[in-house]
Amino acid sequence: MIWYQGFEKHVQERRTLAGLTTYRVGGAAEFYAEPHHAGTLSGLLARARAENIPVRVLGHGTNLLVADTGVRGLVLRLPRTSYGACAVSGGGRVRAGAGHSLGGLVKWTAAQGLTGLECLTGIPGTVGAALRMNAGGRFGEIGASVCRVQGVELDGTPFDLPASECGFGYRRSLLKDRVVTGCELILREGPPAEIQRMMRAIIGEKRLSQPMEARSAGCVFKNPKLPGVASAGRLIDTAGLKSARVGGAVVSPVHANFVVCEGQACAQDVAALIAIIRQRVFETHGVRLEMEVEAWGFDPDELLPAEWQNAA
Ligand code: FAD
Ligand code: EPU
Repeated sequence: MIWYQGFEKHVQERRTLAGLTTYRVGGAAEFYAEPHHAGTLSGLLARARAENIPVRVLGHGTNLLVADTGVRGLVLRLPRTSYGACAVSGGGRVRAGAGHSLGGLVKWTAAQGLTGLECLTGIPGTVGAALRMNAGGRFGEIGASVCRVQGVELDGTPFDLPASECGFGYRRSLLKDRVVTGCELILREGPPAEIQRMMRAIIGEKRLSQPMEARSAGCVFKNPKLPGVASAGRLIDTAGLKSARVGGAVVSPVHANFVVCEGQACAQDVAALIAIIRQRVFETHGVRLEMEVEAWGFDPDELLPAEWQNAA
């Protein structure tokens, strides 16, 4: 008996994921589903849990490296048609579905004369992943505007957490290994002209300093939060790695913390380049870089320099 019996019309086998990520590399999900109803989502989760099928959630794939050999288990993607509703109520309260695009939400709240999310201008991906990653940058993070987050545990049980229990920190939260379905945000009324000015300034700066149109997943590594240690981009740049290449994977000459894919790049090219960057930055600066990009389907050693593999 197949584990997803009763859900056959929702589950595809061997669904290629490359086209669903911005690196546009990588293999297939063993099982893939876009559940349109809460009952289908929780039913699939409960069945997967009972049969020990690993579950992952995919957003817009803008922070993701999928191995060429693909991923075992079930990949779920929340369709915008069912999980993308946004609504504003009094007092600056906004409800947003996890399947909505973050960029669309930022523009929509700005158009309502609400301030709080303009700091997220230019960050691609979904609202659900932005919450899980606590997406943001120098101007702020989404966690600061969150009131509550709703979703489903991986065993199918619903949750509804206040922001104080979401553990928002620098590119982390306690929403990992949960399926976020929506959130309630608290924003404030603000002068529309000022909100628009801020959005234009942020996107202008991002376009100047980041390869926004290239096939990338944003910054590969987190900035080390150590006193006196420079940003990951600066460490990689000053280690002389701009334009370093493995196959079709290249350290961006625009921003060294972005690996961009060209032509026939494969996920293994990106993984090998990541290991080289870590090695060289460690040799040059004595810093072990930690990944921000999520890697699916890899043996953790594949993303580490050879010397670290036994120690890790
Ligand atoms: P995915 O890449 O699909 O998934 C990322 C993670 O979120 C995975 O672990 C996935 O399982 C999880 N996830 C996805 N959906 C859900 C859900 N509903 N519930 C629970 N978990 C979920 N990031 C920043 O923070 N700041 C930036 O300035 C920034 N700039 C970028 C610029 C470019 C050009 C690019 C390509 C990326 C940039 N990023 C930035 C990275 C990326 O956009 C963010 O991490 C974004 O939040 C990922 O959204 P996504 O929907 O694409 O998630
Ligand atoms: N720098 C270099 N060389 C480079 C890149 C950067 O010397 O190739 C220097 C810059 O000149 C600057 C410093 O490093 O002095 C920091 O660079 P930048 O201002 O570009 O910011 P960042 O720390 O590299 C962070 C986030 C970005 C976010 C920006 C702007 C991380 C890992 N990255 O980048 O987020 O867009 O701030 O808010 O926290 C992402 O997470 O994917 C991402 C793109």
